[in-house]
Amino acid sequence: MKKEKFSFEFTSYDNKAELENNQRQVLEEADKISQNAYAPYSNFKVGAAVQLENGEIFSSSNQENAAYPVGSCAERGLLAYVNANFPNIKITKLAVSTPNINYPLPPCGMCRQYILEMEKKQNSSIELLLAGNESEVFVLNSAKDLLPLHFTDEFLG
Ligand code: THU
Repeated sequence: MKKEKFSFEFTSYDNKAELENNQRQVLEEADKISQNAYAPYSNFKVGAAVQLENGEIFSSSNQENAAYPVGSCAERGLLAYVNANFPNIKITKLAVSTPNINYPLPPCGMCRQYILEMEKKQNSSIELLLAGNESEVFVLNSAKDLLPLHFTDEFLG
């Protein structure tokens, strides 16, 4: 028997002003679109924005439904659209933001798995920028860090 340990490093910036221009630009798109989130049931507004390797930025928000499980997180709705329309262009950054909390939004478990799928598919990591309202900003190197002991296609044989 042996004890195992999992740890990862990430950077915490005091505020958006500390980010590189490009990072700030992607995050600002997530901030902006979070205002239009369709979240009448939770009132929890989330915005997500990706940057592709060609520099293009796309964004979306969470979309809720009266039948609650039908709703979708901002990240998954956005990644489905981007993967459907630009399957051969890599995603380099994903920013997620909410005005509802003063802490960097931790993506839900399903979204972590979804982001990981995109990383595996494109064979490269996606930088994650997580923010709240006027909060510090967490910058992580990969969805893998948020999902220890992750399940991927490698196990499907
Ligand atoms: N939500 C997201 O859009 N992304 C996350 O990573 C966490 C949760 C949304 C789903 C739902 O519309 C609302 O936030 C409350 O859970």
